[in-house]
Amino acid sequence: MSHEPSPANGKSIKVVIVGAGSVGVTTAYALLLSGLASELVLIDIDENRARGEATDLSHAAHFAHARVRVASDYAACEGATAVIITAGVNQKPGQTRMDLVKTNYGLFEAVVPQIAKHAPDTILIVATNPVDVLTHAAYELSGFPKERVIGSGTAMDTTRFRHELGLYYGVNPRNVHAVIIGEHGDSQLPVWSLASIAGMRLRDYCVQAGREYDEKAMDDVARRTRGAAYEIIQRKGKTNYGVASVLVSILEPIVKDSDAIVTVSRVGMYEGVGPVALSMPCKLNREGAHQDVPLLLNEVEKEGLKTSALGIREVILSVKK
Ligand code: LAC
Repeated sequence: MSHEPSPANGKSIKVVIVGAGSVGVTTAYALLLSGLASELVLIDIDENRARGEATDLSHAAHFAHARVRVASDYAACEGATAVIITAGVNQKPGQTRMDLVKTNYGLFEAVVPQIAKHAPDTILIVATNPVDVLTHAAYELSGFPKERVIGSGTAMDTTRFRHELGLYYGVNPRNVHAVIIGEHGDSQLPVWSLASIAGMRLRDYCVQAGREYDEKAMDDVARRTRGAAYEIIQRKGKTNYGVASVLVSILEPIVKDSDAIVTVSRVGMYEGVGPVALSMPCKLNREGAHQDVPLLLNEVEKEGLKTSALGIREVILSVKK
């Protein structure tokens, strides 16, 4: 039996992760175990630490489906199906994601053109915060088409939203269809009008289940969703497992070309705002993220999305000054 990792889906899939910090290496580990990639490359400014992480990860090889190696320059991105950018400073207790923009935008100015030069056909997946602003920055700095620059965005918040609703209603989060759109941050927008369980909108589900629809409880769900990262960072100093799994869940439909609908961030045109990267339900496949998924919002939700878009656009315009 060959001890060479079996290529995912029968063909060689190379994924590069830029940034060997906690999000980067947790994503690498999740990716190793997923079987999606046959080659993983870690790039980090601290090459010594990256080598330590790669050696440790390679000892998971028994259960993994990919080779792991470290690279010191971006030529290693050549031929990558996707390049996941996790590098940058992360939130400290009391900081918002937007507080990180100056430092991380500077890093993107240095890194993204190099990735684009060596991997002009790859798909960029951005996790670094503020992820919407940096997804927009990566779009402009790479010169890639919009669909090939994807931010993890509110895929993380949608996962948390479904988790909280599943806990409240006592059902598996996979059976909760509910999305968060807009900014991956404080102006994120729960789309309550479309939230459903077992095909029934929440209020109908409650009537059929013989229980009260509790507005206060739903407000608490939205508050816990929006505040989850702050609470985790207060307790353990960072988040990594949730976002790593979300990044793998974004890569999967790209590798499998499976047209999955995920709320990810990408640049779009918003009435009364202009071009801005924010999260909407997108169809993900081998070409990237397509915004041709209709979303029926009520007037309050349309206003909430516009507010979120304006907030992101303001930061994008300010950071480029
Ligand atoms: C979080 C980081 C990824 O929400 O922004 O966990």
